[in-house]
Amino acid sequence: MKRCDETQAWGALKGHFEAHGRDFDLREAFERDPGRFASMSVEAPEVFADLSKNRIDTATWHFLQDMARECGLEAQRDALLRGDTVNLTEGRAVLHTALRAPPGQGPFSDEVHAVLNAMLAYADRVRSDTGITDIVNIGIGGSDLGPAMVVPALDAYRNPAQQLHFVSNVDGHDIAPLLQRLDAKKSLFIVASKTFTTQETMANAMAARAWFVQQGGSDVARHFAATTTNVKAAADFGIDTTFGFWDWVGGRYSLWSAIGLPIAIAVGGAHFRALLAGAHAMDQHFAHTPLAKNLPVLLGLLDVWYRNFHGFTSRSVAPYHQGLRRLPAYLQQLEMESNGKQVDQLGRAPVVWGEPGTNGQHAYFQMLHQGTDVIPVEFIAVKTPSHTLADQHDKLLANCLAQSQALMLGKSAAVAFTEKAPTAAPGFDPAVLAQHRAFPGNRPSTTFVLEALTPQSLGALIALYEHRVFVSGALWGINSFDQWGVELGKALCNALLPRLATGDGTGLDSSTAGLLKRLTS
Ligand code: F6P
Repeated sequence: MKRCDETQAWGALKGHFEAHGRDFDLREAFERDPGRFASMSVEAPEVFADLSKNRIDTATWHFLQDMARECGLEAQRDALLRGDTVNLTEGRAVLHTALRAPPGQGPFSDEVHAVLNAMLAYADRVRSDTGITDIVNIGIGGSDLGPAMVVPALDAYRNPAQQLHFVSNVDGHDIAPLLQRLDAKKSLFIVASKTFTTQETMANAMAARAWFVQQGGSDVARHFAATTTNVKAAADFGIDTTFGFWDWVGGRYSLWSAIGLPIAIAVGGAHFRALLAGAHAMDQHFAHTPLAKNLPVLLGLLDVWYRNFHGFTSRSVAPYHQGLRRLPAYLQQLEMESNGKQVDQLGRAPVVWGEPGTNGQHAYFQMLHQGTDVIPVEFIAVKTPSHTLADQHDKLLANCLAQSQALMLGKSAAVAFTEKAPTAAPGFDPAVLAQHRAFPGNRPSTTFVLEALTPQSLGALIALYEHRVFVSGALWGINSFDQWGVELGKALCNALLPRLATGDGTGLDSSTAGLLKRLTS
């Protein structure tokens, strides 16, 4: 398959960028074309996307789609969904989509639904166990971030009688204060790890087990469960309630598998199935919609356009729903562990970061509006809240709309000059002040709209991001499903660990040796 920069369309895009892209002005584009919103909006399952505030015109879309076709994107997508070995460096299929296919419809359907049914039956038993008040998920990365993001997002559906906790960090400050608050007789620990070897998770699991025994706990079967592909290691640890999954489920794509157990306990089996159904609907959209209206494809193309032509190196995500507060952290692993790779000099994954609106507005939006870097922003608005504070919801939505409007429109120094500035220093030169108060504008953004934050719409939204990452990764010619870049740090940590006891820095660089001494003496 061709990489995007090896295609003929790439050359056409370069010419198009020089002629129309570099100086593209969103304000002029809206002036020229009153139908821009209608023609550049896309309706996907559960997610409406307004792409019109992006620095793109019809010709750009055409060239980008030509590029996708030349890269064999559709064939690559079909190979992914069919279960071909697309994770070449690890020799694996990538089939998180099979986890949300209805019975009889996807690869490995019998195995998938056998585990799903057992896991959901167990989740519903835990939910109705009035003796269990606290559920602690111990996992990290993909074995933490998905459930830790989904559980607060679906808070409106949660069983209020039980608290869900997520412990991930090897730092004892994560688990220690939690254990102090728990009652061993009323707690369930889920040890979540694809490999069941991850240092952080095993350390926390051992701390939890030691604490449980010390508290007089003995019924491990009732108080510990595991979600893993390594069923034997879980049994060796002393856990016999285990829900398995398979090597063709990548860690950061695993919330649909047994790793979703905390979600199922929080919201119940029926809502977990709705989450899967929402994701499946987006899978169908990705699989069957022509490129021109295929939302994950368009977003992946936009990522290439911004990264490789405009040179934008980061993207900010601004969910205007407090329940989605962990979405940026989840997306950081999804996007940056998947596509933050180089095998050549072509620029790849942007830095992904963000905070829920309106909090971000009072922190870093200053830079989004007036900073020297252009950072595309992705707004997520939810039409109907799950609370009754209608007035506050209107304020939230007005803020969301205002931000994308302000980023695009900006404000010239000439306009700023005519406006009053009551907080300005008396006597400050008004012409210079106007420059401080000017906004360049023309800053791109995308707005997603969900009708409500439900299991179904959340499932669709997450699957949308998953497929978008696959699209940009495929165009960039990288394997989005391995993560060799985390190995070096793990190996060096294992080598340094014994030196923490001795402080011996022999053979180390002077910085590492000096810090080791400082920390151990
Ligand atoms: O950070 C590397 C990584 O392998 C992630 O890809 C994965 O999600 C995480 O560690 C946790 O791995 P495991 O589920 O095997 O404990």
